[in-house]
Amino acid sequence: MAEQKKILRALAGETQKSPPIWMMRQAGRYLPEYRATRAQAGDFLSLCYNSELAAEVTLQPIRRYGFDAAILFADILLLPQALGADLWFVTGEGPRLSTITQQRQFDALKSIDDIHETLSPVYETVKILSRELPKETTLIGFAGAPWTVATYMIAGRGTPDQGPAHALKDENRALFEQLIDLLTASTIEYLSSQINAGAEVVKIFDSWAGSLKGEDFDRYALEPAKRITRAINERHPGVPVIGFPREAGDKYIGFAKATGVDCVAVDNSVSADWVAKHVQPDGCVQGNLKSSHMVTGGQALIDETRQIVEALNKGPHIFNLGHGITPDADPENVQLMIDTVRSFDT
Ligand code: CP3
Repeated sequence: MAEQKKILRALAGETQKSPPIWMMRQAGRYLPEYRATRAQAGDFLSLCYNSELAAEVTLQPIRRYGFDAAILFADILLLPQALGADLWFVTGEGPRLSTITQQRQFDALKSIDDIHETLSPVYETVKILSRELPKETTLIGFAGAPWTVATYMIAGRGTPDQGPAHALKDENRALFEQLIDLLTASTIEYLSSQINAGAEVVKIFDSWAGSLKGEDFDRYALEPAKRITRAINERHPGVPVIGFPREAGDKYIGFAKATGVDCVAVDNSVSADWVAKHVQPDGCVQGNLKSSHMVTGGQALIDETRQIVEALNKGPHIFNLGHGITPDADPENVQLMIDTVRSFDT
């Protein structure tokens, strides 16, 4: 029964002695079994579009650690690709895309109805997972938030300060807003299809929300998250939404109320005590151990993990990292973190 799942109980507002736990990028290069399957697939994008192998790497960390949630193996940049952008990954550097800085480039993108042709293998991955996951494990689907995805589409790559996206916003706001609107509407369709295929929760990754200041944050981080959440609530009542406006700082306060998300994921630039005081009163929170502890381990990992659980276990909490686990992490440190979190049950 769904209510037995620890993640869904936390998202429904239940306080638990030990929080449910999963980890951003839990399927990834720190695991030897991931590297082997990725080699079998050929490259990262081939792995994303190979439903059997994408399901396999999603399951690997569940088998190894018994996390309370599995996150669909895919990428936030598959949606721009489905909209017609070229996408490739440069080894050791990251993603590259054809850019959108002019109206004619935007006009050449596909229509929303056409995205499913490219994305259907992702829905197939979700279907396989909902058959194969243990009954206590929650399946999380996801998409990038419109602003974060737009930063990659405008610059054609990751950028330290999202400069090109800010420049387009300031120089051609009409075009910038058309892109945000297209991404908002297509993200709704993408997440809705993941839910129809079996995703039980969806998460919106706004990794670059921190560079939106003042009114821009409200217009391009809050408003799209609110539109997406409202549409998911209408079409799929009871399916929780997690928002992750990374590095939002003070803007984490009130984010759940303003957008309607069921849970706010927080990065480690804010302390767990601060989150308990300012964010958790509005509902479930997720986070926020520093990922570097997965590299360094030891007593510091144990102390910091305990401190986060103790700060947040008076309200609904899902334990996670503040950002994704890195390739140089030691798999044994992940086990140490899990054992430390679960020791609160006894
Ligand atoms: O969390 C998971 O395990 C699920 C799968 C997942 C991936 N990317 C797999 C991936 C998720 C949820 C994402 C989200 C994602 N992708 C975000 C938002 C979250 C965040 O990290 O801030 C962003 C910004 C991207 C775009 C992206 N994908 C970048 C910038 C990179 C290159 C950087 C890197 O880590 O190599 C990727 C590649 C990527 N996405 C990998 C994985 C496992 C590494 C690819 C490989 O195997 O070489």
